[in-house]
Amino acid sequence: MSLIDSLDLRPKKAAGCPAGPCCALIEASPDSRLASLTSAMANNQDRNFDDLADHFSRKIYGGIKGQIRLAVLSADLTPIVTHLMANRAEPLRVLDVGGGLGQLSIRFAQQGHHVTINDISPVMLDYARVKAREAGVEDTISWHCGPYQDLIGLALEPFDLVMCHAVLEWLQEPELLVPTLAALVRPEGYLSLCFYNPASIIYRNLIRGNFNWLQQAQTYVADSGSLTPNNPCSIEQVRGWMAQSRFEIQKESGLRVFSDYVVDRRGGHQVPELVLAMELQYSGQEPYKWMGRYLHVVAQKDELDDLST
Ligand SMILES: C[S@@+](CC[C@H](N)C(=O)[O-])C[C@H]1O[C@@H](n2cnc3c(N)ncnc32)[C@H](O)[C@@H]1O
Repeated sequence: MSLIDSLDLRPKKAAGCPAGPCCALIEASPDSRLASLTSAMANNQDRNFDDLADHFSRKIYGGIKGQIRLAVLSADLTPIVTHLMANRAEPLRVLDVGGGLGQLSIRFAQQGHHVTINDISPVMLDYARVKAREAGVEDTISWHCGPYQDLIGLALEPFDLVMCHAVLEWLQEPELLVPTLAALVRPEGYLSLCFYNPASIIYRNLIRGNFNWLQQAQTYVADSGSLTPNNPCSIEQVRGWMAQSRFEIQKESGLRVFSDYVVDRRGGHQVPELVLAMELQYSGQEPYKWMGRYLHVVAQKDELDDLST
C-alpha cells in the first residue's frame, strides 16, 4: 500500500487558500510517517517569493534565460508525456510544486490535463492566475497556496507527473523534498526535478577571474533580494535522495550550459534564436550538460509503491 493509499481519504473540509479557492484539495488525517516529515518543518524558513515575484518575472522570464528553461524542460518532458499517454484515453494528473508563474502547467492545462499548482507565495500564484485566465484555463486548474509540505496531509490522488523546478535550492531542509514528493507520485509515475547547480557558480567565477570571491565562497551568503540561492544541492545528493525514494533516473540535462558564461557576446551569441537552439542541442550532451546553471533530472518511480518494505 502506498503512503497516499494509507491516508484517510474520506472528504473532510475544503482547505483554505488566501489566493483563491482550492477546488480539488481536501484535508485528511496525516499518516504518522508523513506527519513526522511535515512536523519537522513547522518553523518553515523556505524562501517565499512574494517580494521577488516582479524581479523574478522580469529577470528570468523577461528574456532568454526563461526561454531556455522552458525549452529544455519541455523537450525533456515531451517524451515522458507521450509515454504516459500511450494506451490511455484519460488526461494526466500533473502537480507543479513551487510552480511560480506556472508556465508549463498552464500549457498542460491547455492540453486538457488535470493540473494542480502549488506555491507558498500568494503573489506568485496571483501572477500565474492572470496568465491562466488569459489562456482560458484558470478554472480548470486546482490552486494550492501554502508550503508544499502541507500537500502530504491532503487527500490527493497520486499524480502521474510531479514537477518541481528551481525550488530545491530555496528550501531550509532540501533533503526532505524528494521523499515528500515521492509520496505524491503514483507507482511508475514521474518526478521532474530541476535545481540550481552549485558547480556552475564556481565555474562562472573562475571564468570571470573572481578568485577572491572563490577564496571567500565558503562563507558566501547571497543578498536577500538576489535570485542566487543560498542552499544549492549537488547532483550527487539528488541522485542519492532519488535512489532512497525508489526513483530510477531516466534523463539528466543542463539548462544554460554556455550562454550564462559568455562575457563578450560575439557572433551567434548576438542572435537569441541561435543561442536557444544551441542550448537545446547541448543540454543533453556530455560533458557540456554538467556546466548548466541548473540541472534537470527526470525519474520514474518504482512500480512497487510500499516504502515501508
Ligand atoms: C525560483 S521560483 C521557481 C518557480 C517555477 N517553478 C519556475 O521554475 O519558474 C521558486 C518558487 O518556490 C516557491 N517556494 C519556496 N518554498 C516553497 C515551499 N516550501 N512550498 C511551496 N513553494 C515554495 C517560491 O515562492 C517560488 O515561487
